[in-house]
Amino acid sequence: MTDTDRRRRSPFAPEVLPDGTRRFSRDSVVARRALLVGLVAAGVSGGVLVTQLGTGGTGAVVDPAAQDSLPAAAAAPAPTPAPTSAASPQAPVFSTTEAASPWVVVNKQHPLNPIDYAPALAVVGGREVAAVIAGDLQALLDAAAADGVALSVTSGYRSYDRQRSVHDSAVARNGLESAESLSARPGFSEHQTGLAVDFGGSSRPGCLLENCFGQTPESAWLQANAGRFGFLLRYPDGLTGITGYDPEPWHWRWVGTDLLGQMAGRGVATLEEFFGISGGTAYA
Ligand code: DAL
Ligand code: ZN
Repeated sequence: MTDTDRRRRSPFAPEVLPDGTRRFSRDSVVARRALLVGLVAAGVSGGVLVTQLGTGGTGAVVDPAAQDSLPAAAAAPAPTPAPTSAASPQAPVFSTTEAASPWVVVNKQHPLNPIDYAPALAVVGGREVAAVIAGDLQALLDAAAADGVALSVTSGYRSYDRQRSVHDSAVARNGLESAESLSARPGFSEHQTGLAVDFGGSSRPGCLLENCFGQTPESAWLQANAGRFGFLLRYPDGLTGITGYDPEPWHWRWVGTDLLGQMAGRGVATLEEFFGISGGTAYA
């Protein structure tokens, strides 16, 4: 399959896109786009909120390697995302290859560059995430809580070394083939960008990082609302051949509401399809 082929619409797209993205008015999208571009271009972190330090666990019995704890020292700041040329209406506003870009595409064909990239960080829900998503992530958690839905942040930013540990643990537990359907090799994980979040919920603790999370009220809330805060369900059901991973109802990637609106407008569920970028289950 060529990259051009991947630009076609996915027949699965209407079912897997977060419903919230379809409810945006044009004015809302344009306004948020202007805000996002302004914030990022100015190097503003988007409102760094620090909450619930040291919390985030649900009490579930899970592999400790799959969850992240907050390290004692904060990571070094990294460059803020910079807009690329928007001279052509076809060109992405932000780079899809620069590690610090909000639209960076990281998959088994496209590792981080540099391989040990680390973003500027903030702490939300007791976990480190890229500072640029802190405002939207905190707003999402607040909105969920206001609706009576107790979401937790199980994992956010993972360093290259941390991802290696998570991957090694998955391989030891499940074998290489099974592990690689759910766990990225170091340097190939969206978690290293700080833009990806694994959510958990308290309604069914045994479903933490399990497929049955997709049947929880917390997952239903995310499906209906995460798009309002710029989060994309990154590994939808039925698209493993494109994303490279089995479905992960808990893994949401912040891309911003502007890109989500554009993806919804084209009926495309994955970053690979939208940008015409190679993906799949084989490593580069
Ligand atoms: N679970 C996702 C694919 C990661 O390891 O980044
Ligand atoms: Zn994840």
